This record gives sequence, structure tokens and C-alpha cells, in this order.
Amino acid sequence: MSTLTDTPQRYGRISRILHWGMAALFAAQFLSAILHWALPRGNELRELLWSYHTNLGATLFLLVMLRGIWGLMNIPRRPHHTGLAGRLIVTGHVALYALMVAVPAVRLLAAATDTRGFSYFGVQIFSGRETALAWAQAPAEWHGEMGWILALLVVGHIALATLWHGMIKRDGTLKRMVG
Ligand code: HEM
Ligand code: HEM
Repeated sequence: MSTLTDTPQRYGRISRILHWGMAALFAAQFLSAILHWALPRGNELRELLWSYHTNLGATLFLLVMLRGIWGLMNIPRRPHHTGLAGRLIVTGHVALYALMVAVPAVRLLAAATDTRGFSYFGVQIFSGRETALAWAQAPAEWHGEMGWILALLVVGHIALATLWHGMIKRDGTLKRMVG
């Protein structure tokens, strides 16, 4: 039986729901970005998937905030990573978090301060300004690049978790988050 909170042996139910729910939503988000990049403008599938990119991206931003707060509240009892390999793993997790925040944040900041404003599932959250705030638009230039770096990190994370920990070392790391 998994508990709601994390324990030193395994992640609890709330951390797992957030981890796997967000993994599925990130898969959909990356798919929309890949098709946006790979298919020609006007392609039906590309436009259909692209139509949810902003709302899904903003949802992921809210979820990562929740997950970050929950993770910090659970720090004293989360599974520990020791030694040099442990420090590398923690660095990888911190890099994932930093990009999960920064990638949507730079676009949301730009949308909140441009002339069109920003609506979330049809509800106007920020109304458009008369002139866009230039300094707040600039970081969004890096949105796509940072998004692709996040995608690469996620591929590395999945390979380490499944191939290295799950099939080669069989050290039980996967079980902290699965089963
Ligand atoms: C974690 C959430 C997000 C991820 C992983 C993500 C990922 C990406 C990626 C990889 C691209 C490049 C696609 C290409 O080259 O064709 C992209 C483009 C774009 N995204 Fe996102 N995105 C996220 C959230 C958002 C949000 C919240 C917004 C709007 C408020 C947004 C708006 C855009 C726009 C307008 C583009 C096309 C222009 C550009 O490349 O900057 N994205 N996104
Ligand atoms: C098939 C997909 C995935 C598998 C098999 C997987 C597996 C795991 C495992 C086993 C852990 C625990 C590792 C440990 O304690 O050392 C973990 C933690 C973590 N994973 Fe994944 N993962 C997947 C997808 C993702 C995705 C898509 C993201 C982010 C975009 C992600 C972000 C994280 C983060 C930040 C942690 C640290 C714990 C936390 O704060 O939630 N994972 N993952």
C-alpha cells in the first residue's frame, strides 16, 4: 500500500500521480511541438495538435508549481541519493525542474505583456497592452530551444530509469516510482 506522502523507500501516491499525469501531458505537449516543427503549415493534424499547445503548456506550468511545492514539503522524507552518482541524479532532477518552469514561464511572461494578452481555455487572464513590453518579450526567443533541451533531458531520464536502473543494474530505483 503506498502512502499519500513520500517515504525514504518510495515516492507516495500524490508524487506518483503528479509524476505520471505530467509525463502523459508532456508527451502530448512534445508531440504538438514535433508536428509543428516537422509538418507543413496548414496540415490538419499539425494545426489540431497545435491548437492545444498554449492551454496545455499553461496547465503544465500550474502543475509543476504544485509538484514543486509538494516536493519541497516532502524533502525530509523523500528517497535519498548518496555518493557521486547520487549528486548527478539530483542535478539531473533539478535541471528537469528548472526547465519545466522556465520553458512555459518565458512564453507566459511574453503573452502577459504583449498587445494581444492571454486567455486560458477561453477565459481572458491578461488583457493586451497598448505597446508590448520589450524586455519581457526577449526571453521567449529561447522558448523553443529550451523546450528541445528539456525533451532531450527527458529522453535521457527515461533511458536511465528503464534501461540502466530497470534492466542493467536492477537496483529497485524504478520501483520507487512504479508499482
Ligand atoms: C512545458 C510547456 C511547454 C513546452 C514543453 C513547450 C515546447 C515548445 C517547443 C519544443 C517549441 C518549438 C516548436 C517548433 O520549433 O516548431 C514550442 C514553440 C512554441 N510554443 Fe511552447 N511549450 C510549452 C508551453 C508553451 C506555452 C505556455 C505557450 C504560450 C503561452 C507556448 C507557445 C509557443 C509558441 C507560440 C511557439 C512557437 C514559437 C516559438 O518557437 O517560440 N508554449 N514550444
Ligand atoms: C516513461 C517515462 C518515465 C519513467 C520510466 C520515469 C521514471 C522515474 C523514476 C524511476 C523516478 C525516481 C528516480 C529516483 O528516485 O532516483 C523518476 C523521478 C523523476 N522524474 Fe521521471 N520518469 C518518466 C518520465 C518523466 C518525465 C516526462 C518527466 C518530466 C518532464 C520526469 C521527471 C522526473 C523528476 C523531476 C523526478 C524526480 C522526482 C520528482 O520530483 O518527481 N519523468 N522518474
